Amino acid sequence: MKKLLLLPALGLLFSLTPPLIRAEGDQPKPEKPQHEDTELEKSMDILGKAWRKLRKQADDPTKNASSLELMATIQAAAQENLKYTPDLAKDIPAEKRDKFIAGYQEKMKELIAAFEQLTAHFKANENPAAVALIAKIGTMQKEGHKEYKRPE
Ligand code: HEM
Repeated sequence: MKKLLLLPALGLLFSLTPPLIRAEGDQPKPEKPQHEDTELEKSMDILGKAWRKLRKQADDPTKNASSLELMATIQAAAQENLKYTPDLAKDIPAEKRDKFIAGYQEKMKELIAAFEQLTAHFKANENPAAVALIAKIGTMQKEGHKEYKRPE
């Protein structure tokens, strides 16, 4: 008789005890330090999303009309980028800041010129040339971010 009562009693005890070990996923995530997006981040983000789609379809001539639409978005965002200065400029000593900003502007203009060339390739259905230029622009992006983007 005693044994029969013991089982439900144990069950009750366990249900009342808070779990000592929780799965990792149950833990509330620590807050990531957040920052307001800069204007440049917002337009770079638009450029980045269209760029990702473009890279995937650049070799496909049947998608050239859509690639040209993506190029219009990319070009508009790149023009927008010219209006802003990298956030990192704040960390550059005052006497070097103008040169830093001029360097950024120059690189952004080179990027815009490369986008114009890329648009011409899609218009002329020159897809292999477009793919080759995309690889070069990828290097420009990497170098631009190394020099002008605040490290993560
Ligand atoms: C195809 C070329 C490029 C793409 C797709 C691209 C894309 C991006 C993306 C996705 C971000 C992050 C936005 C965010 O955090 O939400 C970013 C940030 C940034 N990019 Fe680019 N980028 C390109 C070229 C360049 C070039 C050539 C430069 C420099 C001349 C540059 C300078 C920067 C800077 C400075 C930031 C940080 C924003 C800030 O300081 O406020 N990017 N870019």
